[in-house]
Amino acid sequence: MEDYNPNKIIDEARQGEALVLSPSSKGEGRGEEGKKMFLESYGCAMNFSDSEIVASILAGKGYSTTSDFHEADLILVNTCAIREGAEQRIRGRLKEYNIAKRKNPKLMIGVLGCMAERLKEKFLEQEKIVDMVVGPDAYRDLPNLIERVEGGQKAVNVLLSLEETYADISPVRLDSNGVTAFISITRGCDNMCSFCVVPFTRGRERSRDPESIVNEAKNLFEQGYREVTLLGQNVDSYLWANGKAKKELNLQGFQNLEGFTTFAQLLEMAANVSPDLRIRFSTSNPQDMTDDVLYAIAKHENICNYVHLPVQSGSSAMLERMNRGYSREKYLERISAIRRIIPDCGISTDIITGFCGETEEEHRDTLSLMEEVGFEFAYMFMYSERPGTLAQKKYKDDVAEEVKKTRLQEVMALQQKHSAERTKQGLGKIHRVLIEGVSKKSSERLYGRNSQNTTVVFPKGNHKKGEYVNVLATECTLATLIGEVVK
Ligand code: 5AD
Ligand code: SF4
Repeated sequence: MEDYNPNKIIDEARQGEALVLSPSSKGEGRGEEGKKMFLESYGCAMNFSDSEIVASILAGKGYSTTSDFHEADLILVNTCAIREGAEQRIRGRLKEYNIAKRKNPKLMIGVLGCMAERLKEKFLEQEKIVDMVVGPDAYRDLPNLIERVEGGQKAVNVLLSLEETYADISPVRLDSNGVTAFISITRGCDNMCSFCVVPFTRGRERSRDPESIVNEAKNLFEQGYREVTLLGQNVDSYLWANGKAKKELNLQGFQNLEGFTTFAQLLEMAANVSPDLRIRFSTSNPQDMTDDVLYAIAKHENICNYVHLPVQSGSSAMLERMNRGYSREKYLERISAIRRIIPDCGISTDIITGFCGETEEEHRDTLSLMEEVGFEFAYMFMYSERPGTLAQKKYKDDVAEEVKKTRLQEVMALQQKHSAERTKQGLGKIHRVLIEGVSKKSSERLYGRNSQNTTVVFPKGNHKKGEYVNVLATECTLATLIGEVVK
């Protein structure tokens, strides 16, 4: 990786099956009651954001964070279940904690998040060192669960909720650069893509009160943050109807109803916090992304021209088996809408190779769709069957591992070519960059991202992180632009 880039956390988490996000080194030290927790997150940005909620809940119980698990009283692992590899990596990590626990039998170990939700009590049987299993909707119960463990019991709470959004909890920012932050706006997912375990681990989709979202953005801005990423499994599906779950509503004509907030409206509300606060969002969904969202992006300079729109496959027959709710044509129509309404938009995607029954021709369809779109960036995965999903029940995981791998390599090679071409197109242009910090490779250089999410590196001068600068790009690597600040 060229430079540290918080957005790349998502990249790495997706690419590398779970990146360890080490806890903040800031705010270390004993809490009121002198207890320390080591909190580690795997998987997507949503998990990272949840860990900040957990840190806030436990700060109220006297826990402060430490970046050294050897000195912790409590180790919490926020887990990911999206692919088999992610789960294996977490199990490997638990073995390391086992050594710490042998030295300190009082050490408590809790697993949180998607793998906790998927395995429930079974986790306690399979991994003897685990004291506590807590699902993504049960974090408010953590103080009670910890007390139970302190009293010598094991504790499990994996109840999913239709309402929980943690709207009133002010997250403790972990591992923060002080410039960019995540704000979660929806939880859960109702889409039921056949390959995906998320609807089972994170429950039903629900939206968070827009006022609490905007207030969180305002607070962050006042603290010096200059970019927020609105997070949800399917942000386009965001709908606030005074606390009512979307599924309870008859949605016919809902846009005319007063008191409702759509995602496009929420984006505008966030953009209006300050012209100096950049807004990003993830993840968009081809079946739900409407033109009004695109018009909101086009209208506001500070909503970044960048859309992450997972396609998964370029074959309509495959998309049907994946239960994605759109065809190749519909996806390409959404791409044209983006290009028409936001001419200078960065577009990235997710692709799965070797899903059930994938033929060579279907794989070629994916490659040809990639050629047609020319994505800036893609997160690419081999299909990994997940227990309990629709695909596991309905289809055979019948593409040989070697074939999945070969196809993944082909997809990756093509994407690398497209990414390099896209980066090159930025040469000779002036990019507005929000400075995020000092380049890892040279203390004389700063880095940030342009609106389209490309990393830009330039000489430090008198500039500081949190400032906006205009950079004329004169050189590039595969994914990074390099240039000089201009007036
Ligand atoms: N196997 C491989 N990749 C998956 N994804 C989701 N479920 C699976 C799975 N079972 C990918 C999809 C999704 C991204 C977050 O992870 O591409 O968009
Ligand atoms: Fe999974 Fe599909 Fe929901 Fe994304 S939209 S979390 S892939 S079910």
